[in-house]
Amino acid sequence: MMFLLVIGLLVISTYMHTTESCCCMPEKFELHEYVEDIFTWPSAMIQTGYANISFDLEVKKSVFFFYDVKLNGKDVPTPTYLFDHSSGFLYVYDLRSKYCKKMPIGRMNPVCVPANQSTDTTHLGAAKEMLSVKTYQSTAGNQTTSTTVTKEKCYLISSELNDSEYPTSLRKQFYGTTLGIKDMSVFKIPAICKKIFWNTQEIPEVSRRVFHPFYL
Ligand SMILES: *[C@@H]1O[C@H](CO)[C@@H](O)[C@H](O)[C@H]1NC(C)=O
Ligand SMILES: *[C@@H]1O[C@H](CO)[C@@H](O)[C@H](O)[C@H]1NC(C)=O
Ligand SMILES: *[C@@H]1O[C@H](CO)[C@@H](O)[C@H](O)[C@H]1NC(C)=O
Ligand SMILES: *[C@@H]1O[C@H](CO)[C@@H](O)[C@H](O)[C@H]1NC(C)=O
Repeated sequence: MMFLLVIGLLVISTYMHTTESCCCMPEKFELHEYVEDIFTWPSAMIQTGYANISFDLEVKKSVFFFYDVKLNGKDVPTPTYLFDHSSGFLYVYDLRSKYCKKMPIGRMNPVCVPANQSTDTTHLGAAKEMLSVKTYQSTAGNQTTSTTVTKEKCYLISSELNDSEYPTSLRKQFYGTTLGIKDMSVFKIPAICKKIFWNTQEIPEVSRRVFHPFYL
């Protein structure tokens, strides 16, 4: 159960290849993310958390450093997810508990906003500090997603996903976005990951789905 929550935080988009995309994030960027995941089934739960994310389509790597993840207000130690598509593996590790799992992953996709409907442009802020944003909506199966991005460049601002069958509401806010990767060492595979054998059995949810670092 806990693991499912973490994956829910993380982001998987099973339908993004079947719906139209309106626009995509740049090839290299870093941002911070605040996530709020509300479950009403099988019991009422709220999970919140932050992630520092680096994404580089050119070297085919992305990494998610989670922190301050809380489930119903209690701390949930959350590992780092390092997607190394250049070698075809995902590393899930926690340096404090000296834990690392390695499992095969598929190809890397750009971070694109799925959309088959968009609302009008709206403006955040005022006067010289005004930002034009657009909100896109997409429905696939039982999931409805709404994503707000900057109108000009498609930089992520927020997203919300509801699932009618599996009652959950996943909201994300993106902030502090910068272009490029400041320090490539974020993609370094930690030494503890070099000793282990890879294991696909323990995290079946990962290998069964199409993995994508943003739940858009
Ligand atoms: C996340 O980013 C902030 C601001 O750059 C930094 O202070 C913090 O140490 C980072 N946390 C992790 C877990 O990477
Ligand atoms: C968006 O596309 C999906 C899948 O193609 C479809 O099921 C859904 O009805 C479409 N929604 C709208 C608003 O067009
Ligand atoms: C949508 O939810 C219904 C039950 O409410 C379920 O039978 C159906 O398989 C779900 N569809 C998809 C695409 O997940
Ligand atoms: C999700 O559900 C909430 C509460 O019912 C609603 O206000 C919101 O508009 C929904 N968002 C999407 C993307 O369907």
